[in-house]
Amino acid sequence: MIDPRDALEESAEMLSIVMEGLPAWTSPDAFAQATVRDLDRHFTPGLVRYRKSVTEAGDFAALEWSGEGSVVRDPAGREWIDCLGGYGIYNLGIRHPEVVEAVRRQLDRNPLPTQELLDPVKGMLCRLLAGITPGDIENAFLCNSGTEAVEGAMKIARVATGRRGFVCAERAFHGKTLGALSLMGKAQFREPVEPLLAGVRRVPFGDAGAIESLLDQEGDDIAAVVLEPIQGEAGAIVPPDDYFPRARAACDAAGTLLVADEVQTGLGRTGALWAVDHWNVVPDILCVAKSLGGGVMPAGAILGRGQVWKALEANPFLHTSTFGGNPLACAASIAAIHVTLRERLWEQAARKGERFTAGLRLLAERYPGVLTQVRGRGLLIGMVFPDDRTGYEVAAGLFRRGVLVAGTQVSAATIRIEPALNIPDDLIDAVLARLAEALADTAAAGGALRSPAR
Ligand SMILES: Cc1ncc(COP(=O)(O)O)c(C=O)c1O
Repeated sequence: MIDPRDALEESAEMLSIVMEGLPAWTSPDAFAQATVRDLDRHFTPGLVRYRKSVTEAGDFAALEWSGEGSVVRDPAGREWIDCLGGYGIYNLGIRHPEVVEAVRRQLDRNPLPTQELLDPVKGMLCRLLAGITPGDIENAFLCNSGTEAVEGAMKIARVATGRRGFVCAERAFHGKTLGALSLMGKAQFREPVEPLLAGVRRVPFGDAGAIESLLDQEGDDIAAVVLEPIQGEAGAIVPPDDYFPRARAACDAAGTLLVADEVQTGLGRTGALWAVDHWNVVPDILCVAKSLGGGVMPAGAILGRGQVWKALEANPFLHTSTFGGNPLACAASIAAIHVTLRERLWEQAARKGERFTAGLRLLAERYPGVLTQVRGRGLLIGMVFPDDRTGYEVAAGLFRRGVLVAGTQVSAATIRIEPALNIPDDLIDAVLARLAEALADTAAAGGALRSPAR
Protein backbone atom coordinates (compact mmCIF):
# COMPACT_ATOMS: atom_id res chain seq x y z
CA MET A 1 0.00 0.00 0.00
CA ILE A 2 1.19 3.51 -0.67
CA ASP A 3 0.41 6.82 1.00
CA PRO A 4 -2.96 8.14 -0.31
CA ARG A 5 -1.23 11.41 -1.29
CA ASP A 6 1.20 9.47 -3.53
CA ALA A 7 -1.68 7.48 -4.96
CA LEU A 8 -3.48 10.74 -5.70
CA GLU A 9 -0.45 12.04 -7.57
CA GLU A 10 -0.12 8.77 -9.50
CA SER A 11 -3.78 8.76 -10.42
CA ALA A 12 -3.48 12.36 -11.68
CA GLU A 13 -0.57 11.32 -13.91
CA MET A 14 -2.47 8.29 -15.21
CA LEU A 15 -5.56 10.34 -15.88
CA SER A 16 -3.58 12.87 -17.85
CA ILE A 17 -2.25 10.05 -20.06
CA VAL A 18 -5.81 8.85 -20.61
CA MET A 19 -6.96 12.38 -21.41
CA GLU A 20 -3.98 13.77 -23.32
CA GLY A 21 -1.87 10.83 -24.49
CA LEU A 22 1.82 10.25 -23.82
CA PRO A 23 3.56 13.11 -22.01
CA ALA A 24 6.69 14.60 -23.57
CA TRP A 25 8.92 13.26 -20.78
CA THR A 26 8.40 9.61 -21.67
CA SER A 27 9.23 7.71 -24.85
CA PRO A 28 6.94 5.05 -26.37
CA ASP A 29 9.64 2.52 -25.46
CA ALA A 30 9.79 3.52 -21.80
CA PHE A 31 5.99 3.58 -21.70
CA ALA A 32 5.92 0.04 -23.09
CA GLN A 33 8.42 -1.16 -20.47
CA ALA A 34 6.36 0.48 -17.72
CA THR A 35 3.24 -1.30 -19.00
CA VAL A 36 5.03 -4.66 -18.94
CA ARG A 37 6.10 -3.97 -15.36
CA ASP A 38 2.61 -2.88 -14.29
CA LEU A 39 0.92 -5.93 -15.75
CA ASP A 40 3.59 -8.40 -14.66
CA ARG A 41 3.57 -7.17 -11.07
CA HIS A 42 -0.02 -6.17 -10.60
CA PHE A 43 -2.10 -8.13 -13.07
CA THR A 44 -1.35 -11.84 -13.49
CA PRO A 45 2.36 -12.63 -13.47
CA GLY A 46 3.45 -14.57 -16.52
CA LEU A 47 0.52 -13.67 -18.73
CA VAL A 48 2.39 -10.84 -20.38
CA ARG A 49 5.01 -13.22 -21.67
CA TYR A 50 2.58 -15.87 -22.82
CA ARG A 51 1.34 -14.50 -26.11
CA LYS A 52 2.42 -16.61 -29.03
CA SER A 53 2.83 -14.17 -31.86
CA VAL A 54 4.15 -11.31 -29.82
CA THR A 55 6.60 -13.10 -27.54
CA GLU A 56 8.00 -15.28 -30.31
CA ALA A 57 8.73 -12.13 -32.28
CA GLY A 58 10.81 -10.97 -29.31
CA ASP A 59 8.55 -8.00 -28.82
CA PHE A 60 6.42 -8.82 -25.83
CA ALA A 61 6.27 -5.14 -24.89
CA ALA A 62 4.14 -4.23 -27.93
CA LEU A 63 1.20 -2.09 -26.82
CA GLU A 64 -2.19 -1.36 -28.27
CA TRP A 65 -3.08 2.30 -28.20
CA SER A 66 -5.48 3.24 -30.96
CA GLY A 67 -7.14 1.84 -34.02
CA GLU A 68 -9.95 1.98 -36.49
CA GLY A 69 -11.50 -0.54 -38.82
CA SER A 70 -9.00 -3.34 -39.37
CA VAL A 71 -5.92 -1.45 -38.26
CA VAL A 72 -4.49 -1.29 -34.75
CA ARG A 73 -1.64 1.00 -33.68
CA ASP A 74 0.86 1.25 -30.83
CA PRO A 75 1.85 4.56 -29.16
CA ALA A 76 4.81 4.91 -31.53
CA GLY A 77 2.48 4.64 -34.54
CA ARG A 78 3.48 1.10 -35.60
CA GLU A 79 0.52 -0.54 -37.37
CA TRP A 80 -0.87 -4.07 -37.58
CA ILE A 81 -3.66 -5.43 -39.74
CA ASP A 82 -6.05 -6.90 -37.21
CA CYS A 83 -6.79 -10.50 -38.20
CA LEU A 84 -7.73 -11.49 -34.69
CA GLY A 85 -10.69 -9.20 -34.12
CA GLY A 86 -10.28 -9.28 -30.33
CA TYR A 87 -11.22 -13.01 -30.43
CA GLY A 88 -14.40 -12.14 -32.31
CA ILE A 89 -15.57 -8.85 -30.82
CA TYR A 90 -14.75 -6.71 -33.84
CA ASN A 91 -17.27 -7.91 -36.42
CA LEU A 92 -17.68 -4.23 -37.37
CA GLY A 93 -14.00 -3.39 -36.97
CA ILE A 94 -12.45 -1.20 -34.31
CA ARG A 95 -14.37 1.95 -33.27
CA HIS A 96 -17.11 1.77 -35.85
CA PRO A 97 -18.23 5.42 -36.05
CA GLU A 98 -21.96 4.73 -35.79
CA VAL A 99 -21.54 2.58 -32.69
CA VAL A 100 -19.20 5.13 -31.10
CA GLU A 101 -21.68 7.91 -31.81
CA ALA A 102 -24.64 5.96 -30.39
CA VAL A 103 -22.69 5.29 -27.20
CA ARG A 104 -21.62 8.96 -26.96
CA ARG A 105 -25.21 10.18 -27.27
CA GLN A 106 -26.40 7.65 -24.70
CA LEU A 107 -23.52 8.60 -22.40
CA ASP A 108 -24.67 12.20 -22.48
CA ARG A 109 -28.19 11.15 -21.52
CA ASN A 110 -28.12 8.14 -19.18
CA PRO A 111 -25.13 5.78 -18.99
CA LEU A 112 -26.18 3.26 -16.36
CA PRO A 113 -29.57 2.13 -15.07
CA THR A 114 -31.40 3.42 -11.99
CA GLN A 115 -32.54 -0.23 -11.67
CA GLU A 116 -36.07 0.81 -10.67
CA LEU A 117 -37.28 2.90 -13.61
CA LEU A 118 -37.83 1.20 -16.94
CA ASP A 119 -35.17 1.59 -19.61
CA PRO A 120 -36.69 2.13 -23.08
CA VAL A 121 -33.36 1.41 -24.80
CA LYS A 122 -33.28 -2.04 -23.17
CA GLY A 123 -36.87 -2.68 -24.28
CA MET A 124 -36.04 -1.72 -27.87
CA LEU A 125 -32.96 -3.97 -27.96
CA CYS A 126 -34.93 -6.95 -26.63
CA ARG A 127 -37.56 -6.40 -29.35
CA LEU A 128 -34.88 -6.10 -32.03
CA LEU A 129 -33.16 -9.29 -30.84
CA ALA A 130 -36.48 -11.14 -30.89
CA GLY A 131 -36.95 -9.97 -34.48
CA ILE A 132 -33.59 -11.16 -35.77
CA THR A 133 -33.17 -14.47 -33.92
CA PRO A 134 -34.30 -17.74 -35.50
CA GLY A 135 -37.87 -19.03 -35.34
CA ASP A 136 -39.95 -18.24 -32.28
CA ILE A 137 -37.14 -17.04 -30.02
CA GLU A 138 -38.71 -13.98 -28.43
CA ASN A 139 -37.29 -13.34 -24.95
CA ALA A 140 -33.96 -11.99 -23.80
CA PHE A 141 -31.92 -11.65 -20.67
CA LEU A 142 -29.09 -9.17 -21.09
CA CYS A 143 -25.66 -9.65 -19.55
CA ASN A 144 -22.07 -8.50 -19.99
CA SER A 145 -20.10 -11.41 -21.44
CA GLY A 146 -20.20 -14.77 -23.14
CA THR A 147 -19.51 -16.71 -19.98
CA GLU A 148 -22.40 -14.98 -18.24
CA ALA A 149 -24.68 -15.82 -21.16
CA VAL A 150 -23.82 -19.53 -20.93
CA GLU A 151 -24.03 -19.50 -17.14
CA GLY A 152 -27.51 -17.97 -17.33
CA ALA A 153 -28.60 -20.36 -20.07
CA MET A 154 -27.61 -23.31 -17.87
CA LYS A 155 -29.64 -21.95 -14.96
CA ILE A 156 -32.68 -21.26 -17.13
CA ALA A 157 -32.45 -24.76 -18.66
CA ARG A 158 -32.46 -26.33 -15.21
CA VAL A 159 -35.43 -24.24 -14.07
CA ALA A 160 -37.39 -24.83 -17.27
CA THR A 161 -36.91 -28.61 -17.32
CA GLY A 162 -36.52 -29.45 -13.64
CA ARG A 163 -33.56 -31.60 -14.70
CA ARG A 164 -29.94 -31.19 -13.66
CA GLY A 165 -27.59 -32.76 -16.22
CA PHE A 166 -25.93 -31.30 -19.30
CA VAL A 167 -24.47 -32.72 -22.47
CA CYS A 168 -21.57 -30.85 -24.02
CA ALA A 169 -18.94 -31.55 -26.65
CA GLU A 170 -15.33 -32.57 -26.32
CA ARG A 171 -12.99 -29.63 -26.95
CA ALA A 172 -15.84 -27.20 -26.23
CA PHE A 173 -15.27 -23.70 -24.91
CA HIS A 174 -18.11 -21.90 -23.14
CA GLY A 175 -16.27 -19.70 -20.65
CA LYS A 176 -14.49 -20.05 -17.35
CA THR A 177 -16.92 -19.34 -14.48
CA LEU A 178 -17.76 -22.46 -12.49
CA GLY A 179 -20.94 -23.42 -14.36
CA ALA A 180 -19.68 -22.70 -17.87
CA LEU A 181 -16.31 -24.19 -16.95
CA SER A 182 -18.04 -27.49 -16.15
CA LEU A 183 -18.66 -27.75 -19.91
CA MET A 184 -15.06 -26.92 -20.81
CA GLY A 185 -13.32 -29.35 -23.11
CA LYS A 186 -9.77 -28.70 -21.99
CA ALA A 187 -9.06 -30.59 -18.74
CA GLN A 188 -6.18 -28.24 -17.91
CA PHE A 189 -8.67 -25.43 -17.25
CA ARG A 190 -11.12 -27.65 -15.31
CA GLU A 191 -8.99 -29.83 -13.11
CA PRO A 192 -7.39 -27.23 -10.81
CA VAL A 193 -10.84 -26.15 -9.57
CA GLU A 194 -12.77 -29.41 -9.58
CA PRO A 195 -15.29 -30.54 -8.39
CA LEU A 196 -17.41 -28.64 -10.86
CA LEU A 197 -21.08 -29.28 -11.68
CA ALA A 198 -22.07 -32.92 -11.39
CA GLY A 199 -23.97 -34.60 -14.20
CA VAL A 200 -22.05 -33.27 -17.19
CA ARG A 201 -21.67 -35.75 -20.08
CA ARG A 202 -19.15 -35.13 -22.85
CA VAL A 203 -19.62 -36.41 -26.40
CA PRO A 204 -17.38 -36.06 -29.46
CA PHE A 205 -18.21 -32.88 -31.42
CA GLY A 206 -19.89 -33.61 -34.74
CA ASP A 207 -21.11 -37.09 -33.76
CA ALA A 208 -24.92 -36.85 -33.81
CA GLY A 209 -25.24 -40.56 -33.03
CA ALA A 210 -23.48 -40.02 -29.69
CA ILE A 211 -26.07 -37.39 -28.69
CA GLU A 212 -28.93 -39.58 -29.88
CA SER A 213 -27.88 -42.62 -27.90
CA LEU A 214 -27.01 -40.64 -24.79
CA LEU A 215 -30.37 -38.86 -24.75
CA ASP A 216 -32.10 -42.13 -25.54
CA GLN A 217 -30.64 -43.68 -22.41
CA GLU A 218 -30.30 -40.75 -20.01
CA GLY A 219 -32.49 -38.01 -21.50
CA ASP A 220 -34.66 -37.80 -18.39
CA ASP A 221 -31.69 -36.40 -16.47
CA ILE A 222 -30.53 -33.94 -19.10
CA ALA A 223 -31.68 -30.33 -18.92
CA ALA A 224 -29.82 -29.21 -22.03
CA VAL A 225 -27.44 -30.12 -24.78
CA VAL A 226 -25.06 -27.16 -25.03
CA LEU A 227 -23.13 -26.80 -28.28
CA GLU A 228 -21.18 -24.26 -30.26
CA PRO A 229 -22.55 -24.52 -33.82
CA ILE A 230 -18.99 -24.25 -35.08
CA GLN A 231 -16.32 -24.77 -32.44
CA GLY A 232 -14.24 -21.61 -32.19
CA GLU A 233 -11.59 -22.13 -29.54
CA ALA A 234 -11.10 -25.73 -30.63
CA GLY A 235 -9.81 -24.29 -33.90
CA ALA A 236 -12.75 -23.44 -36.19
CA ILE A 237 -14.24 -26.93 -36.43
CA VAL A 238 -17.30 -27.25 -38.65
CA PRO A 239 -19.61 -30.21 -37.91
CA PRO A 240 -21.30 -32.35 -40.60
CA ASP A 241 -24.47 -30.80 -42.04
CA ASP A 242 -26.78 -33.29 -40.34
CA TYR A 243 -25.31 -32.68 -36.87
CA PHE A 244 -27.49 -29.84 -35.65
CA PRO A 245 -30.75 -31.07 -37.23
CA ARG A 246 -30.20 -34.48 -35.60
CA ALA A 247 -29.26 -32.93 -32.26
CA ARG A 248 -32.48 -30.86 -32.48
CA ALA A 249 -34.59 -33.94 -33.17
CA ALA A 250 -32.94 -35.91 -30.35
CA CYS A 251 -33.56 -33.05 -27.92
CA ASP A 252 -37.20 -32.84 -28.98
CA ALA A 253 -37.66 -36.55 -28.44
CA ALA A 254 -36.09 -36.41 -24.98
CA GLY A 255 -37.71 -33.15 -23.81
CA THR A 256 -34.21 -31.71 -23.48
CA LEU A 257 -33.39 -28.13 -24.42
CA LEU A 258 -30.92 -27.33 -27.18
CA VAL A 259 -28.65 -24.42 -26.28
CA ALA A 260 -26.63 -22.91 -29.15
CA ASP A 261 -23.62 -21.01 -27.87
CA GLU A 262 -23.27 -18.37 -30.59
CA VAL A 263 -21.02 -16.17 -28.47
CA GLN A 264 -18.33 -16.36 -31.12
CA THR A 265 -20.30 -17.42 -34.20
CA GLY A 266 -23.25 -15.04 -33.87
CA LEU A 267 -24.13 -11.91 -35.84
CA GLY A 268 -22.64 -12.88 -39.17
CA ARG A 269 -19.21 -14.27 -38.31
CA THR A 270 -19.64 -17.60 -40.14
CA GLY A 271 -21.42 -16.30 -43.25
CA ALA A 272 -24.98 -16.52 -41.89
CA LEU A 273 -26.55 -14.12 -39.39
CA TRP A 274 -26.57 -17.04 -36.92
CA ALA A 275 -24.49 -20.14 -37.48
CA VAL A 276 -27.53 -22.34 -36.75
CA ASP A 277 -29.12 -20.73 -39.84
CA HIS A 278 -26.73 -22.82 -41.97
CA TRP A 279 -28.87 -25.80 -41.02
CA ASN A 280 -32.24 -24.08 -40.39
CA VAL A 281 -32.25 -25.17 -36.77
CA VAL A 282 -34.04 -23.19 -34.06
CA PRO A 283 -32.44 -23.74 -30.66
CA ASP A 284 -34.44 -23.32 -27.44
CA ILE A 285 -31.82 -20.94 -26.08
CA LEU A 286 -29.22 -18.98 -28.01
CA CYS A 287 -26.28 -17.25 -26.31
CA VAL A 288 -24.62 -14.24 -27.92
CA ALA A 289 -21.93 -11.82 -26.69
CA LYS A 290 -18.54 -10.73 -28.09
CA SER A 291 -19.59 -8.69 -31.17
CA LEU A 292 -23.04 -7.78 -29.81
CA GLY A 293 -21.73 -4.52 -28.33
CA GLY A 294 -20.28 -3.52 -31.71
CA GLY A 295 -16.69 -3.71 -30.50
CA VAL A 296 -17.31 -0.68 -28.30
CA MET A 297 -19.20 -1.94 -25.24
CA PRO A 298 -19.21 -5.32 -23.49
CA ALA A 299 -22.62 -6.88 -24.06
CA GLY A 300 -24.14 -10.34 -24.00
CA ALA A 301 -27.59 -11.88 -24.20
CA ILE A 302 -29.38 -15.12 -23.45
CA LEU A 303 -32.20 -15.46 -25.95
CA GLY A 304 -34.95 -18.02 -25.69
CA ARG A 305 -38.31 -19.29 -26.78
CA GLY A 306 -41.37 -18.02 -24.92
CA GLN A 307 -42.19 -21.46 -23.54
CA VAL A 308 -38.72 -21.66 -21.93
CA TRP A 309 -38.97 -18.16 -20.46
CA LYS A 310 -42.32 -19.04 -18.81
CA ALA A 311 -40.23 -20.81 -16.18
CA LEU A 312 -38.92 -17.43 -15.01
CA GLU A 313 -42.36 -15.85 -14.61
CA ALA A 314 -42.92 -17.07 -11.07
CA ASN A 315 -39.68 -15.45 -9.93
CA PRO A 316 -38.27 -12.92 -12.40
CA PHE A 317 -35.50 -12.13 -9.90
CA LEU A 318 -34.12 -15.64 -10.16
CA HIS A 319 -31.46 -14.28 -12.48
CA THR A 320 -30.40 -10.62 -12.36
CA SER A 321 -27.36 -8.46 -13.12
CA THR A 322 -26.59 -4.90 -12.05
CA PHE A 323 -24.77 -3.95 -15.23
CA GLY A 324 -26.29 -6.49 -17.65
CA GLY A 325 -28.20 -4.68 -20.40
CA ASN A 326 -27.10 -1.24 -19.25
CA PRO A 327 -28.12 1.69 -21.47
CA LEU A 328 -24.64 2.16 -22.97
CA ALA A 329 -24.38 -1.52 -23.91
CA CYS A 330 -27.92 -1.50 -25.32
CA ALA A 331 -27.27 1.62 -27.41
CA ALA A 332 -24.08 0.03 -28.76
CA SER A 333 -25.89 -3.24 -29.52
CA ILE A 334 -28.73 -1.52 -31.37
CA ALA A 335 -26.21 0.40 -33.48
CA ALA A 336 -24.16 -2.77 -34.10
CA ILE A 337 -27.20 -4.76 -35.21
CA HIS A 338 -28.34 -1.89 -37.43
CA VAL A 339 -24.98 -1.75 -39.21
CA THR A 340 -24.86 -5.55 -39.47
CA LEU A 341 -28.28 -5.64 -41.14
CA ARG A 342 -27.74 -2.62 -43.38
CA GLU A 343 -24.32 -3.79 -44.61
CA ARG A 344 -25.47 -7.43 -44.71
CA LEU A 345 -22.24 -8.29 -42.95
CA TRP A 346 -22.94 -12.03 -42.97
CA GLU A 347 -22.83 -11.96 -46.76
CA GLN A 348 -19.56 -10.06 -46.65
CA ALA A 349 -18.23 -12.69 -44.22
CA ALA A 350 -19.19 -15.48 -46.62
CA ARG A 351 -17.58 -13.80 -49.64
CA LYS A 352 -14.45 -12.60 -47.86
CA GLY A 353 -14.13 -15.93 -46.08
CA GLU A 354 -13.98 -17.62 -49.47
CA ARG A 355 -11.33 -15.16 -50.69
CA PHE A 356 -9.24 -15.73 -47.58
CA THR A 357 -9.68 -19.49 -47.55
CA ALA A 358 -8.87 -19.86 -51.25
CA GLY A 359 -5.60 -17.98 -50.70
CA LEU A 360 -4.78 -20.01 -47.60
CA ARG A 361 -5.44 -23.31 -49.40
CA LEU A 362 -3.01 -22.34 -52.15
CA LEU A 363 -0.40 -21.64 -49.48
CA ALA A 364 -1.17 -24.95 -47.77
CA GLU A 365 -0.50 -26.69 -51.10
CA ARG A 366 2.76 -24.82 -51.44
CA TYR A 367 3.95 -25.47 -47.86
CA PRO A 368 2.29 -28.77 -46.91
CA GLY A 369 4.83 -29.45 -44.14
CA VAL A 370 4.10 -26.15 -42.45
CA LEU A 371 0.43 -25.32 -43.04
CA THR A 372 -1.29 -28.68 -42.86
CA GLN A 373 -4.95 -27.68 -42.95
CA VAL A 374 -7.25 -24.71 -43.40
CA ARG A 375 -10.73 -24.99 -41.92
CA GLY A 376 -13.68 -22.97 -40.73
CA ARG A 377 -16.58 -21.12 -42.28
CA GLY A 378 -17.07 -17.47 -43.24
CA LEU A 379 -14.49 -15.42 -41.37
CA LEU A 380 -13.97 -17.90 -38.54
CA ILE A 381 -10.91 -19.56 -39.98
CA GLY A 382 -8.30 -21.85 -38.44
CA MET A 383 -4.83 -22.46 -39.87
CA VAL A 384 -3.56 -25.78 -38.57
CA PHE A 385 0.15 -26.43 -38.08
CA PRO A 386 1.93 -29.71 -37.34
CA ASP A 387 2.79 -28.59 -33.80
CA ASP A 388 2.59 -25.60 -31.44
CA ARG A 389 6.14 -24.55 -32.22
CA THR A 390 5.46 -24.12 -35.93
CA GLY A 391 2.27 -22.22 -35.19
CA TYR A 392 4.16 -19.83 -32.88
CA GLU A 393 6.82 -19.28 -35.52
CA VAL A 394 4.35 -18.40 -38.24
CA ALA A 395 2.31 -16.16 -35.91
CA ALA A 396 5.52 -14.37 -34.94
CA GLY A 397 6.50 -14.03 -38.60
CA LEU A 398 3.15 -12.40 -39.27
CA PHE A 399 3.46 -10.13 -36.25
CA ARG A 400 6.85 -8.91 -37.45
CA ARG A 401 5.25 -8.17 -40.81
CA GLY A 402 2.43 -6.14 -39.29
CA VAL A 403 -0.34 -8.72 -39.04
CA LEU A 404 -2.00 -9.63 -35.76
CA VAL A 405 -3.18 -13.25 -35.30
CA ALA A 406 -3.24 -15.58 -32.28
CA GLY A 407 -3.76 -19.16 -31.24
CA THR A 408 -6.95 -20.57 -29.73
CA GLN A 409 -7.52 -21.56 -26.12
CA VAL A 410 -8.16 -25.23 -26.77
CA SER A 411 -6.01 -26.05 -29.80
CA ALA A 412 -2.46 -24.73 -29.45
CA ALA A 413 -1.40 -25.73 -32.96
CA THR A 414 -4.21 -23.75 -34.59
CA ILE A 415 -3.83 -20.09 -35.40
CA ARG A 416 -7.07 -18.23 -35.86
CA ILE A 417 -7.97 -15.73 -38.51
CA GLU A 418 -10.99 -13.79 -37.32
CA PRO A 419 -10.90 -10.30 -38.83
CA ALA A 420 -13.65 -7.70 -39.07
CA LEU A 421 -16.42 -8.83 -41.41
CA ASN A 422 -15.98 -5.61 -43.38
CA ILE A 423 -12.19 -6.02 -43.81
CA PRO A 424 -11.30 -4.55 -47.22
CA ASP A 425 -10.24 -7.02 -49.92
CA ASP A 426 -6.87 -5.33 -50.36
CA LEU A 427 -6.04 -5.98 -46.70
CA ILE A 428 -6.94 -9.66 -47.12
CA ASP A 429 -4.56 -9.81 -50.08
CA ALA A 430 -1.86 -8.03 -48.08
CA VAL A 431 -2.23 -10.55 -45.24
CA LEU A 432 -1.95 -13.46 -47.69
CA ALA A 433 1.20 -11.96 -49.23
CA ARG A 434 2.81 -11.49 -45.82
CA LEU A 435 1.75 -14.96 -44.75
CA ALA A 436 3.46 -16.39 -47.84
CA GLU A 437 6.69 -14.75 -46.67
CA ALA A 438 6.26 -15.98 -43.09
CA LEU A 439 5.61 -19.53 -44.28
CA ALA A 440 8.65 -19.39 -46.58
CA ASP A 441 10.82 -18.35 -43.61
CA THR A 442 9.46 -21.12 -41.42
CA ALA A 443 9.88 -23.68 -44.20
CA ALA A 444 13.47 -22.56 -44.77
CA ALA A 445 14.23 -22.81 -41.04
CA GLY A 446 12.72 -26.30 -40.89
CA GLY A 447 14.75 -27.73 -43.77
CA ALA A 448 13.65 -30.35 -46.29
CA LEU A 449 10.61 -31.52 -44.36
CA ARG A 450 9.02 -28.13 -44.58
CA SER A 451 10.23 -26.92 -47.95
CA PRO A 452 7.66 -25.91 -50.59
CA ALA A 453 5.98 -28.61 -52.64
CA ARG A 454 7.16 -28.62 -56.23
C1 LIG B 1 -18.28 -20.09 -27.79
C2 LIG B 1 -17.86 -19.26 -26.61
N1 LIG B 1 -18.63 -19.22 -25.52
C3 LIG B 1 -18.31 -18.47 -24.44
C4 LIG B 1 -17.15 -17.74 -24.42
C5 LIG B 1 -16.80 -16.90 -23.23
O1 LIG B 1 -17.03 -15.57 -23.52
P1 LIG B 1 -16.42 -14.40 -22.62
O2 LIG B 1 -14.94 -14.49 -22.74
O3 LIG B 1 -17.02 -13.15 -23.18
O4 LIG B 1 -16.89 -14.63 -21.23
C6 LIG B 1 -16.30 -17.75 -25.53
C7 LIG B 1 -15.05 -17.00 -25.54
O5 LIG B 1 -14.17 -17.19 -26.33
C8 LIG B 1 -16.67 -18.53 -26.65
O6 LIG B 1 -15.90 -18.58 -27.75
